[in-house]
Amino acid sequence: MSEEYIVRKLEYKDIDEIYSLCKENKRFYEFCPPMVSIESIKDDMFILPKGKTLKDKYYEGFYKGDKLVAIIDLITNYPDEETCFIGFFMVDINVQNKGIGSYIINAVCDELKRNNYKNVRLAWIEDDKKAEYFWHKNGFKDLEKKLDQNSHNVIEAIRVLI
Ligand SMILES: CC(C)(COP(=O)(O)OP(=O)(O)OC[C@H]1O[C@@H](n2cnc3c(N)ncnc32)[C@H](O)[C@@H]1OP(=O)(O)O)[C@@H](O)C(=O)NCCC(=O)NCCS
Repeated sequence: MSEEYIVRKLEYKDIDEIYSLCKENKRFYEFCPPMVSIESIKDDMFILPKGKTLKDKYYEGFYKGDKLVAIIDLITNYPDEETCFIGFFMVDINVQNKGIGSYIINAVCDELKRNNYKNVRLAWIEDDKKAEYFWHKNGFKDLEKKLDQNSHNVIEAIRVLI
């Protein structure tokens, strides 16, 4: 998927490293509470949209050497057969704002396009202006605004893989 990074499935043995990366991104959890915990990471490893199975789920780490740099949770063929959904994406706070997030997302989109997917979808909390800037910068266009379970406005967006 990426020439710069080693990409592999994240497993239970990786939880401490995942937790170390996530817990420093406090700002993200202010927009998307609750704060991360070991238990919430265990749940994230298996969480699925309705109707999907684990064979559709890619909970993966991007490694520079043996250092975890970014985490993605991607669901294939969701919400339709031509589309993949990014449920979570996070970069190590120590290396943010260096273009790494954009590099990885573009590498992921290129790989999905090679696999004949037509779209990538995702969502962010409307008030999270960094997330908004990041996804717009990476070619995602707003689709609609919805209310989440915490009564926050969520912007759903799509990138057409051309
Ligand atoms: C969003 C995230 C994935 C971006 O990763 P990254 O490696 O920093 O991404 P990039 O360096 O490619 O791009 C970041 C851009 O945001 C900009 N930015 C930084 N802080 C910002 C802020 N408060 N408001 C708006 N833009 C901001 C940077 O200037 C940069 O843009 P530029 O390249 O035009 O200068 C990373 O910040 C992260 O993991 N955040 C926590 C988790 C998260 O928010 N995930 C996505 C939510 S749905």
